[in-house]
Amino acid sequence: MRIYDHPILGGLREKRKVSIEVDGEIIEAYEGEPIAAALLAAGIRTFRHTLRENKPRGLFCAIGRCTDCVMTVDGIPNIRTCVTPVREGMRVETQVGLGKWRRI
Ligand code: FES
Repeated sequence: MRIYDHPILGGLREKRKVSIEVDGEIIEAYEGEPIAAALLAAGIRTFRHTLRENKPRGLFCAIGRCTDCVMTVDGIPNIRTCVTPVREGMRVETQVGLGKWRRI
């Protein structure tokens, strides 16, 4: 779900639609929006799983402080998706525990 016309912030400005890959699936997003916003709009709520108990985590503070939203982005783990803007062709992966660096 997206808010296209906010009563205080106004309407959603025209932004370029791009595609990003999330766990192997392509989703549409708006260039420059936070990755987390694109995921939520696509119905994705789980961004990572905890190390010890494998519990799901998602958006919590939404301002880059809590690290609940970290994911692996373009092979780099621990990226805070609530403050990282979408770029065309990004590869986003659900992270488990501390994440693993992928060789590029
Ligand atoms: S939701 Fe807290 S850092 Fe992203």
